[in-house]
Amino acid sequence: MSTTTTRSYTHEYARSMEHPEEFWLEASALIEWDHAPTRALDDSAAPITRWFPDGTLNVSANALDRWVAAGRGDQVALAYDSAMTGSKRSFTYAELLHEVSLFAGVLRANGVAKGDRVAIYLPMTPEAVIAMLACARIGAVHSVIFGGFAANELAVRIQDAEPTVIVTSSGGLEPGRSVEYLPIIERALAMIVGDRSVTDAATSSISVITEDELSVETVIVRNREAVAGSAREFDGHVGVRWVDWEDELAKAEPVGPVELAATDPLYILYTSGTTGTPKGVVRDNGGYAVALAWSMANIYDVHAGDVMWTASDVGWVVGHSYIVYGPLLAGATTVLYEGKPIGTPDAGAFWRMVEEYRVKVLFSAPTAIRAIRREDPGLEHLRRYDTSSLEALFLAGERLDTETYHWINDALHCPVVDHWWQTETGWAIAANPRGIEPLPVKPGSPTVPVPGYRVAIVDGKGNPVKTGKEGNIVLELPLPPGSLPTLWGGDEKYISSYLTAFPGHYATGDSGYLDDDGYVYVMGRTDDVINVAGHRLSTGGLEEALNHHPAIAEVAVIGVKDELKGQRAAGFVTLKHGTTIDHDVLVKELVALVRETVGPVAAFRDVTVLERLPKTRSGKILRKTMRQIADGEPYKVPATIEDPTVLTALEAALRG
Ligand code: COA
Ligand code: AMP
Repeated sequence: MSTTTTRSYTHEYARSMEHPEEFWLEASALIEWDHAPTRALDDSAAPITRWFPDGTLNVSANALDRWVAAGRGDQVALAYDSAMTGSKRSFTYAELLHEVSLFAGVLRANGVAKGDRVAIYLPMTPEAVIAMLACARIGAVHSVIFGGFAANELAVRIQDAEPTVIVTSSGGLEPGRSVEYLPIIERALAMIVGDRSVTDAATSSISVITEDELSVETVIVRNREAVAGSAREFDGHVGVRWVDWEDELAKAEPVGPVELAATDPLYILYTSGTTGTPKGVVRDNGGYAVALAWSMANIYDVHAGDVMWTASDVGWVVGHSYIVYGPLLAGATTVLYEGKPIGTPDAGAFWRMVEEYRVKVLFSAPTAIRAIRREDPGLEHLRRYDTSSLEALFLAGERLDTETYHWINDALHCPVVDHWWQTETGWAIAANPRGIEPLPVKPGSPTVPVPGYRVAIVDGKGNPVKTGKEGNIVLELPLPPGSLPTLWGGDEKYISSYLTAFPGHYATGDSGYLDDDGYVYVMGRTDDVINVAGHRLSTGGLEEALNHHPAIAEVAVIGVKDELKGQRAAGFVTLKHGTTIDHDVLVKELVALVRETVGPVAAFRDVTVLERLPKTRSGKILRKTMRQIADGEPYKVPATIEDPTVLTALEAALRG
């Protein structure tokens, strides 16, 4: 891509910093535009900035039509493999284009116009990819909601994004059980309109509206044989139309791509913040397309005709960027896997997939590797398969501990690459840029800042800290293309959430340090976000759910160390004065409450009942000390503690 002969990381990074306009305009040539941008950055309303302000394009045309026109119509675009049902299906670029164009017609026929929101609540099946690209085709803004969230989380997202249509299917499949989606959607809608005949569940994050005010008009349901529930039979109480995917397709006309401004929103993806209310990260069309196309070549070294498999879920940002958009924007083959790293049927699942699809690059999360290690420490399964096609294993989503890194890196014939990013950025902030030049690996570090990102470490007051010293990781503004331009709900919300704590910088919420060679080390979060099996959760949200139990007086949820999942949520509760309830019963009820309101993905099981929570004299709960005690780390009794004996009681309770 670079016109220079020196393809070195140092050179590319320096260019991106010194000549960002030139750097990103050059990168924009990776995309086919209806109207090519003449400018890269619009910073006239800084700190709010926009990329490629005069460019117009369509992302679905770049992901599909473009490759068919270039002669790749017969190449597999999407290979679907369900370890849950045993079914497999491949779509060539021409076939996927056909499916997407038709489903875009279904959306149109159901009243979806440019700028309208569409909620997508689908399992890891091809319909998810089709629905996302169909939205992109007509300029509708999709908001994918992860299948492991329960009704309350769904309701909060629906109320914020105000979709007119929800696209779903009968449900998802988890080992040993199916998850029926239609009753969950019905419950979420009932929460929003306060229909007590359907739900009496806790709805503190939702302000009830009338059925007339409800944005949702239609729910499009793809019937799945493996899970009960179809639009044809479903008898919903809340006044929305439930229509069948196949019935709608039979009537649909294919729709072509509409020309969109680079700055138009492509999607909203909700992510956990400090409070129980998730933040709607907005992604634009042009900046995102350019950033992903650039990353495919320069970070992942994946090009047209290559196979990339990202073993994540379309409900997370990793799935948006590297199951759906990234590989297709590069003309590669993407693999969609419905299953787990272990148990479906065994710890050889990943290696089977690599062999079967001749995967060049696999992208997963450290927790999945730890799960494989626990089941198959000697990697007997790896030896059963031919994994010679694999050129790199990329990991992200949580800190890659050095033990896991060494274990998998020693076993594989190819490099293991840690890289660090967030829902907000949409692509890696720090990585080993293999496509430019593979850099030496330092275990424990996701390597170096990616071109476009100026990473700095500051103390609580925003002053730079010395190399090697831990502090808040911040990114100097402007953020590169692909990163969030704003939050759904407005620029002010974006500014106050991310840009105010350290003026001129975006606060990542992570802490860490830089070493003498400029390598980044990410150590953990500075806020109340925890990371359970690579899934980002808000302790505030879990506390909100627990607070709904009538016996509970006070609650604190903290993230404690977990060998498999990295972290897990642990709840500490006190009871209302005079309450008598069997503790085992209480724990069961609290676990069920979180499962019902937040969802099974919270994997919430640990509850400790205390007489009192440890607090400072001003009433602040001593979460850090609690976490240190729970993790068995040495701790100092804080000078401001109200009553030190509470800590002794906590230790005793945890010891059991
Ligand atoms: N729909 C419904 N339920 C879901 C779900 C979904 N899409 N995804 C997960 N769940 C449920 C699981 O069934 C489980 O329920 P259970 O309590 O009844 O067992 C619960 O949520 C917790 O799931 P999970 O965190 O996946 O734990 P697990 O014990 O089932 O599996 C791992 C452990 C490590 C194998 C698994 O967490 C994993 O594969 N992680 C990879 C994470 C990842 O790819 N993250 C993306 C970021 S890059
Ligand atoms: P999410 O928005 O769900 O992708 O979660 C982003 C958060 O996960 C980051 O802010 C980090 O706390 C953590 N994270 C992601 N990737 C890494 C990594 N490679 N190393 C350390 N932490 C990571």
